[in-house]
Amino acid sequence: MRVTEGSVEIDIPGTSQEEIEEDVFYNPNQVLNRDLTIAVLRAYRDVNSNASTYLDAMAASGIRGIRAAAEGWDATLCDTNPEAVSLCKQNLAHNDLEGTVVHKDANAHIHQHSYDVIDIDPFGSPIPFADAALSNAHDLVCITATDTAPLCGAHFNAGIRRYDSVPRNTEFHPEVGLRTLISTLARTAARYDRAIQPLLSHSTRHYHRVYLAFEDGAQVADSALENLGYLLYCPECLYRETQYTRFPSFSDECPNCESEQTVIGGPLWLAETTDSEFTTRVQQRIDESLEDPDNVSTLIESVDDEITTPTHYDQHKLCQRWSRPASAMDDFLDAIRDAGYQASRAHYSGTAFKTPATVTEIRKATKSL
Ligand SMILES: C[S@@+](CC[C@H](N)C(=O)[O-])C[C@H]1O[C@@H](n2cnc3c(N)ncnc32)[C@H](O)[C@@H]1O
Ligand SMILES: [Zn+2]
Repeated sequence: MRVTEGSVEIDIPGTSQEEIEEDVFYNPNQVLNRDLTIAVLRAYRDVNSNASTYLDAMAASGIRGIRAAAEGWDATLCDTNPEAVSLCKQNLAHNDLEGTVVHKDANAHIHQHSYDVIDIDPFGSPIPFADAALSNAHDLVCITATDTAPLCGAHFNAGIRRYDSVPRNTEFHPEVGLRTLISTLARTAARYDRAIQPLLSHSTRHYHRVYLAFEDGAQVADSALENLGYLLYCPECLYRETQYTRFPSFSDECPNCESEQTVIGGPLWLAETTDSEFTTRVQQRIDESLEDPDNVSTLIESVDDEITTPTHYDQHKLCQRWSRPASAMDDFLDAIRDAGYQASRAHYSGTAFKTPATVTEIRKATKSL
């Protein structure tokens, strides 16, 4: 069947847009991811007009690379699936667009060709492609990870193996997942004397997506690693504490409730996961030519408003603990701010919020709601 997305029209196998077809993958639920990719590519070229080549390393139907080509990028579409390769060629031609299509393993291709922007959108973990992408991309990597269970510690051993980090299964899954992913990518880039600079990151439903620029050099790579650290979490009282360090030195007992059930996780990327100057540029590049501009705009707004705190609380869960009804989120956050603490929503959940305040401080600040 034929689908339109943004300014392009492509053929996908099968007859239903609702289903993910088996022979060549197309997921209509990833429109937000692809729309945002296009807005990021536009914004990135506004700051670096030399960037021109884009590799869609796992192209499937070609939709992402074809949308990039329609934006004037010199796009290459790569896939190991021969049916995907044929479809990419057919879809480029159907849109009267130039582009190169390669039938190859992405790692092999990346090691032999260089690109300004490399987009990694695999089934599951991007780690098998991380070395190639992070060592070879000139300017920018765009990376999707759908293996959220290992990343957030729900599949603990798989998380340790794959990400060389200890991802703890906390109540703030999306933060642990995103920050474990960026931590591993930062350490991978550092092995090639490169510092990553997260321009934009988000956790949406079943995936994480990060856009990372680079600065090259041993010293900047060392500095980037200083953004890594560890987390202490107490599942009894929800206490959390972070340390920017390679050698965490947390106390054995929870400093708040003296529980011995505390867990230590990391290394996590503890610094900003998004550059607010860049997100402003992305916001300016969202227009009606995207498939669902309102959705992208809402996401960027809420990512932009979010404070850096690397953990979040869930208002409903806290109120349940305190045996009281939940409040409107805006009132709840205003009460925390009125008590003198920073507070924001979190972009991945309507009931999540971020604040450096402790559970006791939050309870006190919101008790009269
Ligand atoms: C999740 S799909 C990509 C979706 C696509 N980027 C989109 O936006 O619709 C993953 C694709 O990666 C391809 N693939 C798997 N292993 C690969 C490899 N080693 N090199 C290149 N492509 C690969 C699969 O054939 C599949 O088409
Ligand atoms: Zn505790």
